[in-house]
Amino acid sequence: MIELKPEQIQEWMVGTATAGVAFAGMAHGLFGRLADEGPLSAKALAGRAGVDEAYGARWCEVAFAFGFLDRVGDGFALSDAGRAALVPGSPQYAGGAFVNMMLLGHFSLRFAECLGTGDVPGEGLFAERRIFAPLFGPMLEANFKPLFEQAVLPAVAAYREAGGKGGRVLDLGCGNAWFLVSLARAFHSLTGVGVEGHEAQIANANKRIESEGLGSRLRCVAGDIVDPPVDGPFDLVTMNRSVHHVWDRKERLIGSVRDRLSPGGRFVVWDPNFPDTDEGLRTPAKRTMVLHSLAEAMQGNRLMPAREIVDWMRSGGFEVEVHLLNGGNEGVVVGRKKAS
Ligand SMILES: C[S@@+](CC[C@H](N)C(=O)[O-])C[C@H]1O[C@@H](n2cnc3c(N)ncnc32)[C@H](O)[C@@H]1O
Repeated sequence: MIELKPEQIQEWMVGTATAGVAFAGMAHGLFGRLADEGPLSAKALAGRAGVDEAYGARWCEVAFAFGFLDRVGDGFALSDAGRAALVPGSPQYAGGAFVNMMLLGHFSLRFAECLGTGDVPGEGLFAERRIFAPLFGPMLEANFKPLFEQAVLPAVAAYREAGGKGGRVLDLGCGNAWFLVSLARAFHSLTGVGVEGHEAQIANANKRIESEGLGSRLRCVAGDIVDPPVDGPFDLVTMNRSVHHVWDRKERLIGSVRDRLSPGGRFVVWDPNFPDTDEGLRTPAKRTMVLHSLAEAMQGNRLMPAREIVDWMRSGGFEVEVHLLNGGNEGVVVGRKKAS
C-alpha cells in the first residue's frame, strides 16, 4: 500500500520528472536524432529536429541531469542508459511506459476538472493534446506486442488455427495495425482487413503495411467497428482494447460480428480484465488500470471484468473459452460461432 516516507515521495517525483523529460524528447524525435547522428551540439540538435533553439538547449541540460545524455566535447550523445531506454528495439525500451505515464497525467488533470463540472469530453479526450497523436499507436505497440508474442499467441489456439490455414482476419479498431502485421509475419498466407475510425491511425496503419511489404495481404479501411464496411466471411474477427469503446452498442456489435464470421469461425476479444473485487482494486498491478478507467469514463466508456465479455458472447450464441494472462490483468475471450 501507499508508503508516505519522504524517500518514497521523492522517488515518485523523480519518476514523474523522468517521464516528462523522456516524453519531450520522444515527441520531437530528439533521441532518434542523437542515436543516428550524435554527438551533436544542442544548437545542431535543435536545428535538425526543428525545435526551438533556446528550449532545445534547456532540454539537453535536463536530459543530461537525468542521465539520458552524456557530454561529448561541447555537444551531447545518448548515454548507454538513454540508448537502452529510448531507442526502439532495445530489450529495455521504456518509451511506451513513459508515454503512458504522461497520458495518465493528462487524464488525471482532466478528471479533476470534469469531477467538478460533470463534463464528458468523449472520444475527443486524446485529441485535446495533439502531441499524443503520433505517439499513441507506437505506445500501444511497445506495451502490448511483446505480450502478444510471448503470452497471448502461445495461449490462444484460435489465432494459430486461422493463421495455419491461411485464413482471412478482420481486426476491429486496428489502430496502427501492429497486430495485423504481427499475425501476417507469423503466418505467411494469412490475409487481413483492419477497420479504424481515427483518420491519423488509418494513414499510419496503411503506411506501416506498405513499408513492411504486406500491401497485397493487409489493408486498413475507415469505418465504424459496429457496422464495418467489409463483407465476410472471415475465419477470425479480433478486437484488441477496442470493445470497451463500443460497449454501449454491444447487442448490435455481436450480431454484426456473427454475420461476418464463417461457420466455426472465431471471435477473439482481448481487453483489460477490470477487477471485480475490493481486493483486486488494490492489487498494485491493477491500480494503473483503475486510474485508466477514469479516462474511459470521460470518454463515455467503461472497463469491465472478462466475465462480462464471456456472458455477452454466450448470450450472442457463441461457444466461449477465456484466458486470463499477465497476472490476470489481461482477459482474452474466444468465441466460436456454432456451425448452424
Ligand atoms: C485503445 S485503441 C487499440 C488499438 C489497437 N487495437 C491496438 O491494440 O493497438 C482503440 C482503437 O479503437 C478505435 N475506435 C474506437 N471506437 C471506434 C469506432 N466506433 N469505430 C472505429 N474505430 C474505433 C480507436 O480509434 C483506437 O484506435
